[in-house]
Amino acid sequence: MTAPLVRFEAVTKRFGAETAVDDVTLEIAEGEFFALLGPSGCGKTTLMRLLAGFETPDAGRIRLAGEDVTDMPPHRRPAHMMFQAYALFPHLTVAQNVAFGLKAQGRPKREIAVRVEEMLALVRLEGLGGRKPDELSGGQKQRVALARALAPAPRILLLDEPMAALDRKLREETQFELKRLQAALGLTFLIVTHDRDEAMVVGDRLAVMRDGRIVQVGTPAELYERPAGRFVAGFLGEVNLIGEIGVRPERMRLSRAEPAAANRLAGTVTEVGYLGDRTIYGVETTAGAMRVAQPTGGGERAQVGEAVWLSYPADAAMRLGR
Ligand SMILES: Nc1ncnc2c1ncn2[C@@H]1O[C@H](COP(=O)(O)OP(=O)(O)OP(=O)(O)O)[C@@H](O)[C@H]1O
Ligand SMILES: [Mg+2]
Repeated sequence: MTAPLVRFEAVTKRFGAETAVDDVTLEIAEGEFFALLGPSGCGKTTLMRLLAGFETPDAGRIRLAGEDVTDMPPHRRPAHMMFQAYALFPHLTVAQNVAFGLKAQGRPKREIAVRVEEMLALVRLEGLGGRKPDELSGGQKQRVALARALAPAPRILLLDEPMAALDRKLREETQFELKRLQAALGLTFLIVTHDRDEAMVVGDRLAVMRDGRIVQVGTPAELYERPAGRFVAGFLGEVNLIGEIGVRPERMRLSRAEPAAANRLAGTVTEVGYLGDRTIYGVETTAGAMRVAQPTGGGERAQVGEAVWLSYPADAAMRLGR
């Protein structure tokens, strides 16, 4: 196995009495798209700033590309951070914005011009190099920021909520665009988001953080289908709790006839919400209120007030503990 590109070793960062990052050990492989997920204030940005060199840990070491970078200044690290608010330089053209990091590196003019064209093509902004940022749409600005960040060829790109300024439809397009770029370049991306769908769509692996600590690391499917506990289960999606067991709403079946399955609950429909691709049912059962998601074209329909049965297969039961 090759050495990881990034390694946090028991890293702790405090701000006064507050521990923003608490004894974090984490490895990110070369070429991986890694997503950090967690509630506001759990330490995501701080962890990223530690890697970029904008913060120094109180304890622990950080390794990047085989080097201990813990005490290295940001500009010497092969990492580039694109911030939560990715401010473009408003007085510079798109091409000059993209050229910014290359100029700072002292690259020859001709090389810069070629690289800028390459980057604009990569983010599908050919021909727009002469515009100013305020002549671009939100999505286009976001892609200029990405081209600017990628131009100096960092070993790892750190993206802190890169889609926060975009509307939902544009976000979804941009997520696939990011993934396409990352795969095409073979680069390592570390993205911070508090949008669980976004993290699952783009991330090869995710880490869920809470109160400065990493609760669980794994692929989106591992975290969604085998969460380590209630916090991860609830953070990645809806979950019905039946004692120490968790069952996702889409694994619950609703029927009028008593099911043969051993895992079943009798209940009454309290809510019906039609969402197009699926219908959500609220059902009051002997084990408490449950949510069921029935895909359109599959499963039985029911109305508010009807007596129904809920059942789930044994492999849908996630052991979550108390
Ligand atoms: N420079 C600072 N000085 C003091 N406290 C800070 C500083 N930076 C962060 N913190 C605190 O550290 C904790 C973690 O902050 P951080 O910005 O890493 O959270 P986050 O997970 O990125 O949150 P969000 O999703 O809201 O961006 C918070 O409680 C925050 O108030
Ligand atoms: Mg943040």
